[in-house]
Amino acid sequence: MWILEKFVINGGKRLCGSVRISGAKNAAVAILPAILLTNEPCTIENLPEISDVTTIIRTLSILGAEVKVINKSTVRIDPRNVRSYTVSKEMAECMRASSYFLGALLGRMNNASVAPPGGCDFGVRPIDQHIKGFEALGAKVTIENGMVEARAERLSGSSIYLDVVSVGATINIMLAATRARGLTVIENAAREPHIVDLANFLNSMGANIMGAGTSIIKIRGVENLHGTTYSIIPDQIEAGTYMLAAAATMGDVTIENVTPKHLESIIAKLNEVGAKIEEFDEAVRVSMNTRPKRCNVKTMPHPGFPTDMQPQMATLLAIADGTSIITEGVWDSRFRYVDQLTLMGAQIKVDGKMAVITGVANLRPAPVKAVDLRAGAAMIIAGLMAEGTTEVTDILHIDRGYENIAEKLASLGADIKRAPIISDEVVLKEA
Ligand code: EPZ
Repeated sequence: MWILEKFVINGGKRLCGSVRISGAKNAAVAILPAILLTNEPCTIENLPEISDVTTIIRTLSILGAEVKVINKSTVRIDPRNVRSYTVSKEMAECMRASSYFLGALLGRMNNASVAPPGGCDFGVRPIDQHIKGFEALGAKVTIENGMVEARAERLSGSSIYLDVVSVGATINIMLAATRARGLTVIENAAREPHIVDLANFLNSMGANIMGAGTSIIKIRGVENLHGTTYSIIPDQIEAGTYMLAAAATMGDVTIENVTPKHLESIIAKLNEVGAKIEEFDEAVRVSMNTRPKRCNVKTMPHPGFPTDMQPQMATLLAIADGTSIITEGVWDSRFRYVDQLTLMGAQIKVDGKMAVITGVANLRPAPVKAVDLRAGAAMIIAGLMAEGTTEVTDILHIDRGYENIAEKLASLGADIKRAPIISDEVVLKEA
């Protein structure tokens, strides 16, 4: 049975203590479909317990893979009986990463039929660069009856220059090229940590991928891949979210199980607003004891400041001393959450891809919505900052990407609870 839920937050408490970061969502949702490139079982460790991972695993199971849950963060997936190459609208529309089944199925059986991906609404989210890559490898791509159909006799390596730095296109082309004949070169590739993690995973299965983490990735196709056991990297964005929550509540939090190198741009901005940061081998400690200073932020592909941290940063800057400007450099429209934040007293004016934030002394509690995943995390941070009771609804967006967020925050001293929404207007999705 599905019941709609909300978070109820009694804000105004400092976050203190330590919190452990889970495996990276955006690595997990690429690595799980990549298992389709072998016929041998793979064991994946450090998977985050989030609904996007559940959706991908369910899709693999529908395609014919055998799934064995070893423990809450480890699964063993045996894809040898996968014969289907179709991912239905029902599965694909839950998330953006469903598009990775195009590259993975094309790589496995030269055939893929996948409904267009869903995911967070940031304006137009085209997949033209993915399609350009598949076509360069020799696939014919059409849209028929609302499905993206990709077919090839046999994929052959090619040189592909991406017109925009796209995480999804880079991953999809890597998936399709891993078993293609010959050499594929992706130029202007995305450099995010999850791209490196996918390359490491594929290489641990016998692939030959070089240059991941730089803007030129070379993939020499191999005939077959074998099974492997692989542990997913820590989630850069989950870590960044707790770092900003610590600063926003004038707290003192050690964020454990992180790769500090992946957090450099976030650390730089936290330093700029006056937070104190200590870096350890696999942890960072963030403390703050003054009102944040103003600063400007521009989101960019990695290693720039991540767009997936933009709403959380805007929330911190909402109480900064002075006026800050955030420029969104990746998505057309990623300020839909601003209306919610203004309900809590933030003073933010949006003009196209720019938000001008005039810092106020405090936010005040209000009922707000999680309009998408990271916007939802931002609403939680706002609720933690505002003294009084804030309710955040539409939290299924948050559950897509944050493992046990209420429990983790509560362990740091936050007063946050998950509660059912009881209302005549609630429509249960499934009874
Ligand atoms: C990934 O989305 C992430 N999702 C997003 O994280 C993240 O915001 C984004 O990368 C940017 O870092 C996953 O990894 C599952 P893109 P993706 O292709 O791959 C344009 C989160 O909160 N573009 O790098 O869909 C596009 O419109 C999520 O965890 C084209 O023009 O993003 C955008 O402006 C939300 N044509 C830019 O490139 C294409 O074919 C970057 O998009 C593809 C993209």
